[in-house]
Amino acid sequence: MAETALVSIRRAVPADAPALSRLLQDLVAAGKRSVRSDEEFVLTHYVQNPEGVCCFVAEDADGTLLGLQSMKRTLEGNAYGTPGGWGFIGTHVSPKAARRGVGAGLFRATREAALRAGVPAIEAYIGAANSEGQGYYEAMGFRTWRTPDGSVCKRYDLDL
Ligand SMILES: CC(C)(COP(=O)(O)OP(=O)(O)OC[C@H]1O[C@@H](n2cnc3c(N)ncnc32)[C@H](O)[C@@H]1OP(=O)(O)O)[C@@H](O)C(=O)NCCC(=O)NCCS
Repeated sequence: MAETALVSIRRAVPADAPALSRLLQDLVAAGKRSVRSDEEFVLTHYVQNPEGVCCFVAEDADGTLLGLQSMKRTLEGNAYGTPGGWGFIGTHVSPKAARRGVGAGLFRATREAALRAGVPAIEAYIGAANSEGQGYYEAMGFRTWRTPDGSVCKRYDLDL
């Protein structure tokens, strides 16, 4: 697809925070996100998360940011019930860029980073009503392995 060829993937930097905050606010306006989307949240939870393994952005040819994917390494006894030492992934693609392969491009980069970091498996924690999130992760090769209270957890096992 021509549009996809113009999208590049690179590591997020702190200067991306204002644009990423706007992207997340667009998802809130579209009814696809309900948690904080301010610049400080972007920095502490995604770009500069102390537990972070990687944080990639997808960028259009003109520098417009189209998506964000972050992965942190879980601690033992974390609030999500995810096994310790796993990757924990989050994906956020602008509603204006949906279904153009942005999410797929981001996961190619994250998967490589997970392999390099020696992460044995990655978990995606998705709302039970979020069919697009479930469809996306399923297409990336994730599979449902537990369904805690109103959520669907899918895992992706790395061949280490
Ligand atoms: C889910 C999300 C990350 C998908 O990103 P995207 O860039 O549109 O995904 P891609 O274009 O790379 O799609 C890759 C594949 O995922 C699947 N997929 C993507 N969107 C889907 C949808 N709405 N319904 C079902 N399957 C979907 C398809 O198999 C798709 O391949 P295809 O287009 O060739 O059929 C994006 O819609 C998003 O950010 N949604 C809001 C936040 C969210 O739900 N995040 C994830 C759960 S926490």
